[in-house]
Amino acid sequence: MRNKLIVALAMLCFPYIAEAKIVHMSTKSMSLVIDAQAGEEAKFIYFGSRISDDEIETLRKTETPNLSAYPVYGMSVQAESALSVIHTDGNLTLDLAVEKVGETKGKDAKVTMIELKDRHYPFFVSLCYRTYYEEDIIEMWAEYSHKESAGVMLTQFASAYIPVRYGDVWLSQFYGSWANEARIDEAPLNHGMKVIKNRDGVRNSHTAHSEIMLSLDGKAKEKTGRVIGAALCYSGNYKLRIDTDESNFHHFFAGINEDNSEYSLAPGEKFTTPELALTYSKDGLGGVSRNFHRWSRKYKLAHGSVPRKILLNSWEGVYFNTSEDRMYKMIEDIASMGGELFVMDDGWFGKKYSRNDSRALGDWSVDSRKLPGGIQGLIDSAHKNGIKFGIWIEPEMTNTVSELYEKHPEYVIKPAHRQPTTGRGGTQLVLDLGNPEVQQLVFNVVDTLLTNYPDIDYIKWDANASVMNHGSQYLADNQSHLFIEYHRGFAKVLDRIRKKYPDVTIQACASGGGRVNHGILPWFDEFWVSDNTDALQRIYMQWGTSYFFPAIAMASHISASPNHQTSRAVSLKYRIDVAMSGRLGLEMQPSQMTAEETELCRKAISEYKEIRPVVQFGDLYRLLSPYDRKGAASLMYVSPQKDKAVFYWWKTETFMGQQLPRVAMDGLDPDKRYRVMELNRIDDKPLVYEGMVFSGEYLNSNGLEMPLTHKVSVDRSRRNEYSSRVLYLEAVNDK
Ligand code: DGJ
Repeated sequence: MRNKLIVALAMLCFPYIAEAKIVHMSTKSMSLVIDAQAGEEAKFIYFGSRISDDEIETLRKTETPNLSAYPVYGMSVQAESALSVIHTDGNLTLDLAVEKVGETKGKDAKVTMIELKDRHYPFFVSLCYRTYYEEDIIEMWAEYSHKESAGVMLTQFASAYIPVRYGDVWLSQFYGSWANEARIDEAPLNHGMKVIKNRDGVRNSHTAHSEIMLSLDGKAKEKTGRVIGAALCYSGNYKLRIDTDESNFHHFFAGINEDNSEYSLAPGEKFTTPELALTYSKDGLGGVSRNFHRWSRKYKLAHGSVPRKILLNSWEGVYFNTSEDRMYKMIEDIASMGGELFVMDDGWFGKKYSRNDSRALGDWSVDSRKLPGGIQGLIDSAHKNGIKFGIWIEPEMTNTVSELYEKHPEYVIKPAHRQPTTGRGGTQLVLDLGNPEVQQLVFNVVDTLLTNYPDIDYIKWDANASVMNHGSQYLADNQSHLFIEYHRGFAKVLDRIRKKYPDVTIQACASGGGRVNHGILPWFDEFWVSDNTDALQRIYMQWGTSYFFPAIAMASHISASPNHQTSRAVSLKYRIDVAMSGRLGLEMQPSQMTAEETELCRKAISEYKEIRPVVQFGDLYRLLSPYDRKGAASLMYVSPQKDKAVFYWWKTETFMGQQLPRVAMDGLDPDKRYRVMELNRIDDKPLVYEGMVFSGEYLNSNGLEMPLTHKVSVDRSRRNEYSSRVLYLEAVNDK
């Protein structure tokens, strides 16, 4: 008994698995297996659908690939590597062997660490794996440290490596630009190196994304086929590499982009890479998305289980023309429509330099010429109207037109001996977040606001510049650490903010969808998908975003028509129906709406409140992709209990005599029966199946016929080519 106690105590303090050889990290339906024999190189054995320990034994005897679990540079120089270093003495090689394997079990996840040491140098690598059993996600990352006599230069430092069996593997990736984010690009993996990267320095998802899916059974399919999903959880520069060489494998590496970022690791310092989150599903792209959404809501996104408020954001309504009257009026208008929050966007600050356009920024005190009653006046007005108040800031930047820049020119990122290139407004520069004084300054922006106005409920945190000039006035001779230190500083500030203000809602906005990644989600409640609010183009962007991110995080606003970005005139019904598929909000001037439009919005807000739990916490089923160009797009959300669902259908083009496919639903319980009700109805007559009951089996197999147009008896000139439907399905208890 006494011995058992000692062993148990020893295990608690030092939870290492002695003699561990085969490390099997498994979730409900996925396995990752590594051979970690002490004194040997850690070898990759298997990644895919869950397998048993017996099957692993058989596999090891029959077909173990001879691949490293984490390829390092030097002793097999031809191959791509995850890690390469320059030792203190100039040696460029690594030769890592397993020392031990450790394991800690948390409440929801288990962490396994395979500890490696160089056979000659006191250089250590931990390969870390966190398994989320229920959600089918494994996070992988690496940690490095050493005891050499001086710094070791890290020249490549991927978070993780996964080999994927060569075959008809298709890559789903994202591309885009400002106002056109998260476009999907799907193609087979060919020989050679595929690199997906970002070098913005601040924002990392306007162009490419740090998430990919790999469909293993040919062209990506929504409902079927084996698919791997991978997301690098990082807000900075990244690089994803897929090397399809002469071997039987596509070699996938993901991590921080090492370009211009070699890192000198001091003796005793620990370098931790960001996590790569990995999932595997046999249910196609949709299966991977649902795994990510559940995991994201539960473990990544701030307040992932709290319903989001319906808001009006002032930007497209007034742009920089903020004034007290306009703000008060917007507060009243959104409150009267049933909204729950008003957010005052840009244009409210600056004493010496007023923010009347994008030139002046950096001084976060209220411009009392525009808002004589100050922020408190606005909060009081919001409360009087029964809603909450939120505010826009851009604390990581300063413009040269600011008192801040006049006092602290040393706070900006800029190389010595150079005139910096400036961004927005011709004056914008990025603050050097690697500098602790700047971290304090950025923290203070939020802290001061929330201390002075504890009733601020929501912050829209914007970031509109890239690191244009490589140079830190703080980092002295470690200039190549700039990008990494920036994001470490960013993390430190946000950790402090979240510690002190755990309840405030924070939106990640970065010139639209520049910060859509799982690295920032623990501090942020949502992101602004794009500065482009055009409903038609939003369908494409939100579709791409939905591959990895849940609807609860996607800020999706009804805006004016013609749209301010595309100039497209789109019916209000359609704009509402698209916005209602994410976190609903408004981005327009309500005082310019007709009574009829206001009424439609009021109705939509009230109906969204009904469906909010299904949209924000349900499972997504993408049904008809806009990228397939069939003339329509469709998706639905189904509650986890499968008792409620919301179906969306949007026409994406209109021709006379058009033939559109009928869309089968998905995810409904075949044994349940559902009553169908149309939301946001504008037609004179209800749909023929309004109020009728259909079995889940029937709807999953056949769907329902969607009329191609709306029959509305209004003045012909107000008819519009856009047509869309939102159906609410509720299970009936008729047994
Ligand atoms: C860029 C954001 O994406 C917009 O929504 C808006 O907040 C502007 N900045 C304000 O300058």
